[in-house]
Amino acid sequence: MIASAGLATYAWVSFKKVMANMRLDNKIALVTGAGAGIGRAIAEALASEGAHVFVTDQNGEAAAVVAAAIAAKGHRTTAATMDVTRGQDVFAAMRLVEAGPGRLDILVNNAGLNVRADFRHMTDEEWVRLREVNLDGVVRVARDGFGMLRKSGKGSLVNISSIMGQRGLRPLAAYSATKGAVTALTKGLAVEYAPFGIRVNAVAPGYVETALTERVLRNPLMAKALVDRTLLKRFGTAEEIARAVLFFASDESSYVTGAELLVDGGMAAAL
Ligand SMILES: NC(=O)c1ccc[n+]([C@@H]2O[C@H](COP(=O)([O-])OP(=O)(O)OC[C@H]3O[C@@H](n4cnc5c(N)ncnc54)[C@H](O)[C@@H]3O)[C@@H](O)[C@H]2O)c1
Repeated sequence: MIASAGLATYAWVSFKKVMANMRLDNKIALVTGAGAGIGRAIAEALASEGAHVFVTDQNGEAAAVVAAAIAAKGHRTTAATMDVTRGQDVFAAMRLVEAGPGRLDILVNNAGLNVRADFRHMTDEEWVRLREVNLDGVVRVARDGFGMLRKSGKGSLVNISSIMGQRGLRPLAAYSATKGAVTALTKGLAVEYAPFGIRVNAVAPGYVETALTERVLRNPLMAKALVDRTLLKRFGTAEEIARAVLFFASDESSYVTGAELLVDGGMAAAL
């Protein structure tokens, strides 16, 4: 009995020690497109460091599944349906945050999609949809999230751009245009939000295996060509992208704003 009580005390002390070392203890975070892929990994990484994460996605069921998995590990989390192209969804999510913790310390603009179309044959509808999610959605969330980030006094806004915002690859010209705009927006917002104590940075992933890239990466010829162009000779994982987001979200990057971190296995360096 005594031994097990001692063990329990040790376990509790160790648990408290680990909790005390968590980088995002007492922080409040919101991630868009967190129902799958990179967004899910980001939400889980932020929660594992102690943040209360608002898991949002256009697919409310997917958001709820991710939040349940986070809660099952003993972390605080809230799921919300939020399509970044719908102003009323973004407004409602921000009011949910306001009515709850009342501030946001970390806001991650992750929701995005890709339309793989030969540029010459892309329809207006395809272009508008791509722009509405990848750029207009980022603008809307960054704008409407300002009030809650400002309340933090030490806010961190992280945008997920892409290596394709800096490079061209067929057939991704339109996607590149939206992601290049996110890179430029990140720098502009760093300037506008700095007086309010909000840092703004971007993470630019290379190729990561998710639903977004499934079709390309399952094609052995295309997959080989891409791996050959990557210095580390493999694709990245969503968790590796999430670790870069953790850096920008935490005080470890307290003197960094307006920056973009390529997490691409060296692909851009080699192109
Ligand atoms: N996978 C890669 O190789 C890669 C590379 C560079 C950049 N990125 C970027 O990373 C981000 C995440 O990509 P992923 O690979 O995880 O994609 P994914 O398709 O696996 O997941 C995207 C998630 O975003 C959600 N989403 C899509 N449209 C939305 C909207 N309008 N509102 C809210 N949620 C929406 C989806 O429901 C899904 O849960 C995107 O911005 C993407 O452009 C991905």
